[in-house]
Amino acid sequence: MERYAETTKQTYEGWDEFYSKPVDEKIEFFKMKGRVFDIIYAQQFDRQFLEHLCDLADKIRLLAKTKMGAQKLSSLLHHKRAMLYFVQPSTRTFLSFQNACHLLGLNVSESRGTSTSSEVKGESPEDTIRTFASYVDLIISRHPETGFAEKTAWVLNQTERPVPVLNGGSGSDQHPTQALLDIYTLQREFQNIGGLDGKKIAMVGDLKRGRTVRSLSYLLKNYKDVTIYYVAPDVFRMRDDIKEFLKRHAIPYYETDNFESVMPKVDAIYMTRIQNEYAADPKSETETFPAFHFRKEHLAKIHAHCAIMHPLPRRYEIEVAVDKDPRAAYWRQERNGMWIRAALIAHVFRVEEEILAEFA
Ligand code: CP
Repeated sequence: MERYAETTKQTYEGWDEFYSKPVDEKIEFFKMKGRVFDIIYAQQFDRQFLEHLCDLADKIRLLAKTKMGAQKLSSLLHHKRAMLYFVQPSTRTFLSFQNACHLLGLNVSESRGTSTSSEVKGESPEDTIRTFASYVDLIISRHPETGFAEKTAWVLNQTERPVPVLNGGSGSDQHPTQALLDIYTLQREFQNIGGLDGKKIAMVGDLKRGRTVRSLSYLLKNYKDVTIYYVAPDVFRMRDDIKEFLKRHAIPYYETDNFESVMPKVDAIYMTRIQNEYAADPKSETETFPAFHFRKEHLAKIHAHCAIMHPLPRRYEIEVAVDKDPRAAYWRQERNGMWIRAALIAHVFRVEEEILAEFA
């Protein structure tokens, strides 16, 4: 659809001042009656919350296995509606949120691009989101711009009809609900070897532009004696703000470009792809960095319990032949996304007691 006008740029008094504050000072703003309301940053979650959410996800998963359990779940939020506003491509985050909504009975509307909405007429993204809030009770967004979810939640929280905003990925900055499913996956993969405390995690690939590794690094501060290995080509090393965060929280981390040297040391390997969508000219980035790929031959080098993870989609980072190995956790990981997102929505709408009561 042809655009009739450039996007209207609106000035929101106070936004620049708010945006420039440290995240720790902003977290209160995204709470309602003492609980998280908008999910914007991974730093919003503490260990108690993570354990509560993982337990809730396990219970939702169990309930959904039976017809009676599924009926109970789908009655919980039958009176609520959600909007999925995904203007950056997505398969997993979109579908897992959509199906999490279905599990809990929410009716879902969607917009998967700006070309068929009134944004073509120049409407600002802020007015677009405010319009969604007129019709629905929850907004889940995926956007290429850093800070988009934060700004829209900030705008909505000052209106007569604030509805929760869940950040399904905003630019190369944060993907907090991916970090939730990554923690849920690590917890499940390590359930017979003492959980996440004391574990060594390697993150591999484009760490500079990958938002999942950033959000996961923030969440790992909630676990004791965790060590992180950042494995990346020089051009894609983890950014300094995350390394400073780890130093502040006394979390040991190592950086290397020697992937094979790290393989035998770690309990989990978190692979990522090259995020060339953030390059000025994405097609110019044709290098696939094979030294940072996990191949079938590498299975012999890793621990018997090592969890191989990937937020997906993958390109060549993990050879398909690896999929059959029981340590390949990435397909379980993407399914975990649906359960933990359902748990998050249940928490936001305060219906978790009704779920937990089924197990009392
Ligand atoms: N992991 C992830 O965010 O995948 P999608 O881009 O397919 O949603």
